[in-house]
Amino acid sequence: MNELKQRFNNMAALVDEASLLLDSKSNVVFANDQALALLGAHIVGYPIDRFLRHPDFAQALRLAHEEARMSSLDYTLMDQVRRAFTLRLAQFDSDHVLLVIFDGTMSVSVDRIRSDFVANVSHELRSPLTALLGFIETLQDGAIDEGDSRDHFLAIMQAEAGRMQRLIDDLLSLSRVEAEEHRPPDDDVALMPLLEELASAMRDEAARQGKILTINVADDLSDSDLRVCGARDELRQVFQNLVENAIRYGSTESEIKLLVSIGRLASGQSRKNLLRVQIINQGETIAPEHLARLTERFYRIDKGRSRQIGGTGLGLAIVKHIVNRHRGRLRISSEAGQTTASVTLPRFSDS
Ligand SMILES: Nc1ncnc2c1ncn2[C@@H]1O[C@H](COP(=O)(O)OP(=O)(O)OP(=O)(O)O)[C@@H](O)[C@H]1O
Ligand SMILES: [Mg+2]
Repeated sequence: MNELKQRFNNMAALVDEASLLLDSKSNVVFANDQALALLGAHIVGYPIDRFLRHPDFAQALRLAHEEARMSSLDYTLMDQVRRAFTLRLAQFDSDHVLLVIFDGTMSVSVDRIRSDFVANVSHELRSPLTALLGFIETLQDGAIDEGDSRDHFLAIMQAEAGRMQRLIDDLLSLSRVEAEEHRPPDDDVALMPLLEELASAMRDEAARQGKILTINVADDLSDSDLRVCGARDELRQVFQNLVENAIRYGSTESEIKLLVSIGRLASGQSRKNLLRVQIINQGETIAPEHLARLTERFYRIDKGRSRQIGGTGLGLAIVKHIVNRHRGRLRISSEAGQTTASVTLPRFSDS
């Protein structure tokens, strides 16, 4: 008995899923912890069909016992959430059958996420495409000979095609960052030149909307203290996206502040091995139910408005993935008409 138990334990440890050993009368002889957690703590010694009901289960068990044939059955457990399993049965020795219950719930939801994503992308691409096709038709119907409306239509077509291009660029960025997410970058990146370069590139755009852009450094930090561990072009993309949002969604005639300081824990305690950059803008307070979802792909509070400004809804999703890759933290908060995006990053150290 001990040897049988040992062999079962080895096998169960190897597959690392809910596993059970059944005798020729289909009583449960052994069950590992995962199986006990799934089917109940008192299953040993009882026939398995009390706990698992499947129309083809008896047949699969017979095939395993008598003909040493392996079977695989799909099985759904309906509790609070729908859970999908695959049952596999195989002969263990002449008197026993091994039953392994693979939990497929995760892969089902990954599939679900993937198909939702494809549906979203298709939907986002379809609207500019429909507009383009519509204008092409209008031009073909005669508008091509009317100078003014032709130019007007061409300008719209250019904007729509531009939107499709931006969407594709953002999707590619996102998939690149996702693919690399498990490998943190480790270059020595000087923060101030990066932020200053970015601010001067975006000041004109901000000024056009009556906004000014300022950078401040707190905590008596000198430029040489302000080095983070990361990838420069990715960090630039992070701050560019956040400043762009502050310009886009902030109220006119207001100041957009970039504030650099030592990283802080939620308790307020400072952490010298971290640096924090906050991008602060004045505008409408973002309601908590939106705040929690901003980093989801394609999530926009006001779809129409953001689209009109040219947003794809992928900016913050890209930011989140880059920050994750840097083993940093992104927090967005909004209260009393002020929105703050806060990025905390590991500081570069020479050692
Ligand atoms: N500073 C902000 N103030 C108010 N709302 C914001 C702010 N930043 C982001 N949002 C909201 O979050 C949504 C998602 O932002 P995100 O940057 O991901 O997409 P986007 O700006 O619409 O498009 P893009 O892909 O061009 O960045 C925006 O559509 C907007 O509704
Ligand atoms: Mg954005």
